[in-house]
Amino acid sequence: MKPLNKVITRKDTSFNPIWIMRQAGRYLPEFRKIRKDNPNFINLCLNEDLSSKITLQPLRRFDLDAAIIFSDILMLPYGLGQKVEFEKNFGPKLGELNLNEINKTDEINFVRKIHPVYKAIKKVSLDTSIKNRNTIGFVGAPWTLLVYMINQQSPKKNLKADFFKDELLIKRILLTVEKFLKIHIKNQIENGANIIQIFDSWAGLLEEKDLPNYVYYPTLNLVNYVKSLNVPVICFPREIKNYKEFCNIVKPDAISIDYNVDPKKILRDIKIPIQGGLDPKILLTDKETLKKEASKYLDIFKDHPYIFNLGHGVLPETDPNMFDYLVKTVKNY
Ligand code: CP3
Repeated sequence: MKPLNKVITRKDTSFNPIWIMRQAGRYLPEFRKIRKDNPNFINLCLNEDLSSKITLQPLRRFDLDAAIIFSDILMLPYGLGQKVEFEKNFGPKLGELNLNEINKTDEINFVRKIHPVYKAIKKVSLDTSIKNRNTIGFVGAPWTLLVYMINQQSPKKNLKADFFKDELLIKRILLTVEKFLKIHIKNQIENGANIIQIFDSWAGLLEEKDLPNYVYYPTLNLVNYVKSLNVPVICFPREIKNYKEFCNIVKPDAISIDYNVDPKKILRDIKIPIQGGLDPKILLTDKETLKKEASKYLDIFKDHPYIFNLGHGVLPETDPNMFDYLVKTVKNY
């Protein structure tokens, strides 16, 4: 059994597996080198030789328990025919949302457009050097994808006042996104992904009253779909206030928490396996602080199934030596 599955199924909770969100990325000089020669980020994700190589880069350096495939949640709108670009020092920039274009997309042309992602997963999952590791596939949650598709860039602190103005459009996009997310998940699993993580990075933007319609029920549909394929699913509804309610309704196999969550409180509130929590900024301090803060999470969750991770992605300015020290701290705990 792979390390994350042992903990998620509670077959063996005597250890804490570790992987880190955005472990394949800009804090690694070997990634920056490849990135420099590949200015188009989408094309880099669609180059299975390079994307599988980048996926494995952190596993060559650190004793991590999982590879997360180098791709992006925005491959979904890209596959649906919306323009997606990444601008330096700005982030994602999406083109105008064209419902006619999206309605013309069927499963065959969607898969044809992004199939190198699946080939990369296959390559990674067949790589014998990481035989005893998990291969994590992932998707953005319907709500977070809707935010990008309508807003066309990362939102600031709040959504624009007119975000919900075209309710019919929103409903239709959500249904379409859900349909293609299932296709995307199925193809990742068929090619070797043995865990799925659902990133809902912008769940925290919603008011409580809107959570059921935009977060709980669309995510529940996906979670049930992943479960039907016999693969564990981890949810990361970043910055929602009520993780307990989320878990009671959505029932993922494990829950990833952000760094605003009080670990002691969540331990009392939630029975399912927990992942993450540590503030990525702690990696920018010193080894002593890092050890102390990481140990805090390990201590609190010592009798609970716990996968070590951060409360959001590792920051680009992180020193790889600090990353290494964190992995060793967790492994030697
Ligand atoms: O190592 C891994 O975790 C796997 C790869 C991965 C990327 N994006 C690569 C990436 C994963 C899992 C993601 C998920 C993702 N993408 C999320 C959810 C997690 C989160 O951070 O909240 C979101 C919201 C996106 C959308 C996105 N992609 C943004 C906002 C940006 C720009 C800002 C940023 O953080 O870099 C990206 C670009 C991106 N995705 C990069 C990488 C390595 C940086 C690309 C570069 O080199 O410029």
